[in-house]
Amino acid sequence: AASDPDLVARARAAKEALGERVFVLGHHYQRDEVIQFADVTGDSFKLARDAAGRPDAEFIVFCGVHFMAESADILTAPHQQVVLPDLAAGCSMADMARLPQVEAAWRALADAGVQDDVVPVTYMNSSADIKAFCGRNGGVVCTSSNAEVALEWAFEQKGAGSKVLFLPDQHLGRNTAVLQMGLSLDDCVVWNPLLPGGGLTEQQLRDARMILWKGHCSVHGRFSPDVVHELRATIPDVQILVHPECRHEVVLEADLVGSTEFIIKTVEAAPPGSTWAIGTELNLVQRLAKAHPEQRILFLDKDVCYCSTMNRIDLPHFVWAMESLVAGTVPNRIEVDPDTERDALVALQRMLDLPG
Ligand code: 13P
Ligand code: SF4
Repeated sequence: AASDPDLVARARAAKEALGERVFVLGHHYQRDEVIQFADVTGDSFKLARDAAGRPDAEFIVFCGVHFMAESADILTAPHQQVVLPDLAAGCSMADMARLPQVEAAWRALADAGVQDDVVPVTYMNSSADIKAFCGRNGGVVCTSSNAEVALEWAFEQKGAGSKVLFLPDQHLGRNTAVLQMGLSLDDCVVWNPLLPGGGLTEQQLRDARMILWKGHCSVHGRFSPDVVHELRATIPDVQILVHPECRHEVVLEADLVGSTEFIIKTVEAAPPGSTWAIGTELNLVQRLAKAHPEQRILFLDKDVCYCSTMNRIDLPHFVWAMESLVAGTVPNRIEVDPDTERDALVALQRMLDLPG
């Protein structure tokens, strides 16, 4: 639907009034009505890097979800204030790993006699206190665009018997370990935080190379191999392009796998007449289809599949946040406490220092 012209005008006026004082970041899953006001757009990795790119801006308005705004707060200077236009824009995957649960798993690894061999790696899609846990315990943050390098780094930290505790997305962890690092499915076990001992025996923990946290993305979890088969049967030249948060059986069927930034670059570089079925959030797929009428771009699901929390940042919330800043109040400030920030920054900085 077209954006309300009155709200568009108000957003534009507020942005103009704030000028250089505000820097607006937009994740690729944001609505069109919001993304049009972003100074930069990107995947989680690019936005984490870009957040620190305007040290003169007093306000960072983050159009994305809570864990991204926290990371922006950690990576920006203390005088810069990060605003999330709707505090209800969380991430169900990030919520699947809570600090007390992760600490309990860590103790169980000690009880099994393997904790000294384990490097914790957390996906960007996690709360700041999980990143801080990784920072305190020799671990690193990764995103969907650098998971392989981050895992390589992690496996180098403890020598031959190294293991990784991968939080919180089992699919990104499994897909990267098996399809990019050459580990086998048997090297991977799943830690279920809702079961005593994660539902695993000490022997399983000792034998595993990858201990995958039982978390997932409800949006990417919907794509299925059946739809891939149907599409291939009806459109023989279709290329399947998916995000690594998809289930392993879907990724196995795909032609190409990568972060949202990779998905965009792949389509941009493709010759006219290419046909794609894309397995990621719908706002991005629709925007790509609109931007590339010379290609045929399909969504890899029969149903509508937005990320409901990303979609919470809509034009009314954006206008409210921007007009509040113009009026001199800072709404919905995201501020990570100093101890958490210090430790989380260690893990984030290790990620930013990775090669490539
Ligand atoms: P990327 O931006 O790293 O591709 O991640 C996708 C996602 O689910 C963000 O929430
Ligand atoms: Fe979280 Fe999935 Fe939404 Fe990304 S798409 S914010 S992982 S629920």
